[in-house]
Amino acid sequence: MCGIVGYVGPRKVVPIILEGLKRLEYRGYDSAGLVYLLDGKVHKHRSEGKLANLEELMEDVDDGGSHIGLGHTRWATHGPPSEANAHPHSDCSGELVVVHNGIIENFDTLRRELTAEGHIFTSQTDTEVLAHLIEEYLDGDLVAAVQAAVRDVEGSFALGVMWSGQPDILVAARNQSPLVLGILEGRGCFLASDIPALLPYTRNIIYLEDQEMAVLRADGLEVMTLADGRPLEKEIHTIDWNAAMAEKAGYRHFMLKEIYEQPLAVLNTFRGRLEPESGVINLPEIGLDAAELRNLSRIFLVACGTSWHAALVAKYWLEKWVGIPVEVDIASEFRYRRLLLGPEVLVIPISQSGETADTLAGLRLAAKLGSKIISICNVVGSTITRESDGTIYTHAGPEIGVASTKAFTSQLTALFLLTLYLGQELETIERERRIEMARALVALPPIIEKELPRLQKDMDVLAADFSRSRDFLYLGRGENFPIALEGALKLKEISYIHAEGYAAGELKHGPIALIDREMPVLALVPQDRVYGKVISNVQEVKARHGRMILVGSEGDEALAEIADYAVYLPRINEELNPILYVIPLQLLSYQIANMRGCDVDQPRNLAKSVTVE
Ligand code: G6P
Repeated sequence: MCGIVGYVGPRKVVPIILEGLKRLEYRGYDSAGLVYLLDGKVHKHRSEGKLANLEELMEDVDDGGSHIGLGHTRWATHGPPSEANAHPHSDCSGELVVVHNGIIENFDTLRRELTAEGHIFTSQTDTEVLAHLIEEYLDGDLVAAVQAAVRDVEGSFALGVMWSGQPDILVAARNQSPLVLGILEGRGCFLASDIPALLPYTRNIIYLEDQEMAVLRADGLEVMTLADGRPLEKEIHTIDWNAAMAEKAGYRHFMLKEIYEQPLAVLNTFRGRLEPESGVINLPEIGLDAAELRNLSRIFLVACGTSWHAALVAKYWLEKWVGIPVEVDIASEFRYRRLLLGPEVLVIPISQSGETADTLAGLRLAAKLGSKIISICNVVGSTITRESDGTIYTHAGPEIGVASTKAFTSQLTALFLLTLYLGQELETIERERRIEMARALVALPPIIEKELPRLQKDMDVLAADFSRSRDFLYLGRGENFPIALEGALKLKEISYIHAEGYAAGELKHGPIALIDREMPVLALVPQDRVYGKVISNVQEVKARHGRMILVGSEGDEALAEIADYAVYLPRINEELNPILYVIPLQLLSYQIANMRGCDVDQPRNLAKSVTVE
């Protein structure tokens, strides 16, 4: 989703904007633009496509070393990607400019009213109404005009506004779209959609909340309420990620780097939370005592995309080991159905970014209905974490590749810990069992570490064979069924091959009609309690001459006999198989996407952080 960067201070603004936008590329975008002030005038440059186009454009521009400006990467919602629709957008004078992330829901009505007042529009975007609306209210005071304008607006926004009439300030405002502020002691202030944009310059961050605004100057900033300008005292957070953590560190793509970071991401997520010798699990973030836990009648897991797949795995774990009924909802469905929630229901939103609009909306509804909210999230201080009663952080580090990998395996790790913790508190998992499972989890990172290079080589061979396939089917059963869904999602996200994940037992209820000599079928067949069942399903594919890839347990020679390709994984505690079995699937998608020449880290039409409905 759109990325915003702004700076005012003694440094040159254009390089700061370009660098910041680059660090927000992961959010997904299709055009980019920037503005700066020079000699009392606004200068605007925009281009369709990748940031490289804007950078090239700027090579021939003399920005005069300007010290104040705004930049934006746009992910199209209203109007196709084009230079005219790229942000920043201007008022009629061209001297007031706006960058925006979010959606103005009543833009059509506002646009008609403003057009009737004589405003001339030059784009199809919802954002442009903001520029004209602020112009309409402007009477020498930009802050007052922004406050007045947003009163007329329905929808979500993170805004950056600049006006040549007050050349020393940037105005920022937020409602339901993320925006952070950065302070560089005596050397300027920043605004951005996300922290990575600011990391090369400062680690001192202020989170702007909904219905708050800020005025940024070279020598400091003030935060106030959007409704009435009441000054607010805001905490300055020091971020401990360093900029290098968000770099590629020698890998060709962020996605590959992040796949290889999984041993560490899993380790960091359980580190300090379990004692394998005693089987004790520490999750103080839950904040519920045993009596409160005993009163829980149900658990709801709410998420989107890959995070939803993590939720689906966790349902198997929680119901099996804790015995509380678990419902799993796609957040965009959850928020529009009748919710039978209350204080006896625990709601667990799962989100890598902590900013996904649907997940956040679901959280808010559940909180209103009196449910306790414990989120699982990777981004410290994100909106979802701030609105939850507690958060179990996954410590995967910043994930930049749009296709989620290490965030997923660390979500699974967090959900497994949660299962063990609830089993401990509710006495549904004996100590010996907990010790066994905790030890298996501790043993997992080195196993993944060891297997990764071999798996990458194996997947390279498979990718060479299957990179021209048109369709792909993934099959799994039990807790590996969601891994089949995740494998299919990864493939379609980054290689644009049509892929579907199915519960293996569903094969004969439809998808078997698709099987022919062209159709690759990848099945997950660890030697677990449903092994025999999946093998029967696989035989049905073989009988119809489908091309078979089987991913299963080391030493299971039957696989090589049945399949065109057998991929072997070490035998670990079968509960943890989903964390291990997703890894070859991630690598297969990666290698296939690479062979097809796809943009792995920024697949077309996708955004990392989906901050609109
Ligand atoms: C987008 C991303 C996915 C992600 C989903 C949910 O679609 O491209 O990778 O799984 O959003 O994001 P969240 O940050 O809430 O986990």
